[in-house]
Amino acid sequence: MAGVKVLAESSVVLKSVPSKFNFVNEPTASNSDSIPIIDFSLITSAHPDQRSRVIQELGKACQEWGFFILVNHGIPENDMEAMFEAASEFFNMPAEEKRQYEPKNASDPIKCGNFNVTDTSNQTFTLWRDYLKLYVHPEFHCPLKPEILREALLNYSVKMRKLAGALLEAISETMGLEKSYMEETLNLESMFQLFAANFYPPCPQPDHAIGIPPHTDHGLLTLLIHNGVAGLQVEHNGEWFHVNSPQNSILVNTGDQLEIFSNGRCRSVKHRAVLNNEKTRISIVVANGPSLNTILGPAPPLVARDGRASYLPMKYEEYIESQLTKSRVIGKSLLEQMMIREN
Ligand code: OGA
Ligand code: NI
Repeated sequence: MAGVKVLAESSVVLKSVPSKFNFVNEPTASNSDSIPIIDFSLITSAHPDQRSRVIQELGKACQEWGFFILVNHGIPENDMEAMFEAASEFFNMPAEEKRQYEPKNASDPIKCGNFNVTDTSNQTFTLWRDYLKLYVHPEFHCPLKPEILREALLNYSVKMRKLAGALLEAISETMGLEKSYMEETLNLESMFQLFAANFYPPCPQPDHAIGIPPHTDHGLLTLLIHNGVAGLQVEHNGEWFHVNSPQNSILVNTGDQLEIFSNGRCRSVKHRAVLNNEKTRISIVVANGPSLNTILGPAPPLVARDGRASYLPMKYEEYIESQLTKSRVIGKSLLEQMMIREN
């Protein structure tokens, strides 16, 4: 596994994408100035009017977009910088150093490499991306090198956990539930937290390859930052929108487990990472879910209110496993398979 980075660098004259990366992209609609922006400082504000306004905006964002840009979140810029630095150092290490983390099983707690995906017509292609994925809670796993990674990641994952917890409390409120409802019923104290660093080198033909194809995230809330190079797109009303986020903001999307738990109030939207031919893009992603042994279904008070459950329950651990084994195939998503249709 030399990695896409090495391939992209190996030939300065690489003018076209090797055929194994070939992927036909759906076109992008437009810039999105309309992606909701949520000011986190207002959620913790003592001012009741401001607070109820932002809670309302948050509920609307989760329902209509499944996606929002979080500003004034209180995470120091230095903590984010440290993550980009550590991730770059990791991807810059020689192939021999990284080889030990090539996945043997999908559920290995430390893994890195490239990823192959098979589409519905049985075509397999490689993603134009190198990744590092780590399980960071309730057990913390981290490669020994680069040395700066461990401390930066420990600090960052704790702060992301707190932030996710505070957002989930506010999201409970948007649905008329007790603030602590999710924390108690979904065992958030031992929440499963997954860290991913994605490295997308410049691509000579950005329209002929993809960083990550359209997918939804498992879990409750995914928190993403990137190094200022655009590339994330979200689907909204059947069209793809660029996400142009202000510097130091955090991009938040609601995952499959939140859609199921909320009985469809929050939406887990499709998103993808597209490429460019100039700059390397790095994204740092933390996915926050319930504890692995939680059997997650629609929340009973919401089912009572709606008169029916719109999704089947499943143990979170099994959900991840089935998504891991099936996610290589683009087709009907696991989330769609969990939906109970009305007759
Ligand atoms: C992901 C993801 C998008 C990005 O890691 O699940 O959607 O912009 N990443 O890297
Ligand atoms: Ni994603």
